[in-house]
Amino acid sequence: MPQITVIDQSGAESSVEATTGRTLMETIRDNGFDELLALCGGCCSCATCHVHIDPSFMDKMPKLSEDENDLLDSSDHRNEFSRLSCQIPITDALEGLKVTIAQED
Ligand code: FES
Repeated sequence: MPQITVIDQSGAESSVEATTGRTLMETIRDNGFDELLALCGGCCSCATCHVHIDPSFMDKMPKLSEDENDLLDSSDHRNEFSRLSCQIPITDALEGLKVTIAQED
């Protein structure tokens, strides 16, 4: 049950408990962050689950797929720490992760 910190679009930080085996998108959405739209429900086709990952956790992220990369390219808010949160499985290695919900395009 890793503890992660979610920073919303206004900059407010909240600590939430994540469940291993679920995705980062589900964790954020199920903790009441309505601004993470996740419109496609996690099938990597909408890019509305865009987040910025704490730089110190980038090496713990799964590899970026071509589809995810293409979708992130459609965002004006992409940076080197951008990921689609539905593509990130929660593991114990993410204990202490800080993740920021990207501004809406
Ligand atoms: S929820 Fe649609 S791409 Fe992640």
